[in-house]
Amino acid sequence: MAPKKPQSEKEKSAGPSPRGKNKPLKKIGVLTSGGDAPGMNACIRAATRAGLAKGLEVIGIMRGYSGIYEKQFIEMNSRSVANIVQRGGTILESSRCDEFMTAGGRAKAAGILQNEGISGLIVIGGNGTYLGAAGLCAESPIRVVGAPGTIDNDIYGTDFTIGFDTAVNTALEAIDRIRDTADAFHRVFFVEVMGRKSGYIALEVGIAGGAEEILIPEQSIDPETLSQTLRESFARGKRSSIIVVAEGNETGHTIEIARYVQYRLKLDCRVCVLGHLQRGGAPTAKDRVLASRLGTAAIDGLLDEKSGYAVGEIGGQIMFTPFAEAAEKKKPLNTYSLNTMKVLTL
Ligand code: F6P
Repeated sequence: MAPKKPQSEKEKSAGPSPRGKNKPLKKIGVLTSGGDAPGMNACIRAATRAGLAKGLEVIGIMRGYSGIYEKQFIEMNSRSVANIVQRGGTILESSRCDEFMTAGGRAKAAGILQNEGISGLIVIGGNGTYLGAAGLCAESPIRVVGAPGTIDNDIYGTDFTIGFDTAVNTALEAIDRIRDTADAFHRVFFVEVMGRKSGYIALEVGIAGGAEEILIPEQSIDPETLSQTLRESFARGKRSSIIVVAEGNETGHTIEIARYVQYRLKLDCRVCVLGHLQRGGAPTAKDRVLASRLGTAAIDGLLDEKSGYAVGEIGGQIMFTPFAEAAEKKKPLNTYSLNTMKVLTL
């Protein structure tokens, strides 16, 4: 459900309507919602400490939007976020909350927050998190700023999302290992990575892992063409092949594709689904730094009339994008990377 109509140009420049939003902020909540991503803890830490430094009272809300209804509120101080910058997962835990996706549910949540004296929120998550936040901002006096936490990197308005770099490196380590065994047996391996609607992880891992092909939601390759490409590459002397498959790819179910190719090529094919492995683990330096910058910038945004916006980093600069745009606009895949991938498989 899309709870908020996109803002007009006038609304965008003026910021969301006041209705109590111009009162000084005293107490804010921080939550993580949707699929967890490595680096969320670094972002919680940054938002908490930056908020405290600005004289705000900071409340950690457990289990995403669900924690508002459950009143799972934790008073945060700078020690509450000690020793977490290096940890995967999220100390605030997460959920996907259907109730918050309805206007009635959001009105109830806004009432609970107001009763607690919480007038601002930092939400760390992906598209679903942003859509809920857009509704809350439009329908209540609660001010909200978002930070992009998802391994999928499918958020418009930021070059990278928090967790993407770690997920790519985790998948890459697995692919390097798979290459060893694939080579030993002259096999074709189909390695499924996450990405329900986006091929970002597959493309990045495909280039870094020297994959022969990637199957992604943004483009479709029929299994016969894929078989032909692989046949040619084996004819050129390759001993093994790795095909990186995004879970939401257009070609079909990974096991079905592998069966088809095995039948057509008379070559041994194997499937390896990396799944939730990619969601855990210590965040890379790149993710920790990104999360720290975005968590701090989210607090600045909350104090600076940027309610209704998601923070991101584009070309090294902090940028703010309205929630609806950040959640719904499709971030295009880098076509230069796609071409690079094709050339390098020769
Ligand atoms: O957070 C995004 C994502 O990692 C997708 O790539 C994947 O499809 C989805 O989460 C799976 O999430 P869950 O198993 O938590 O529903």
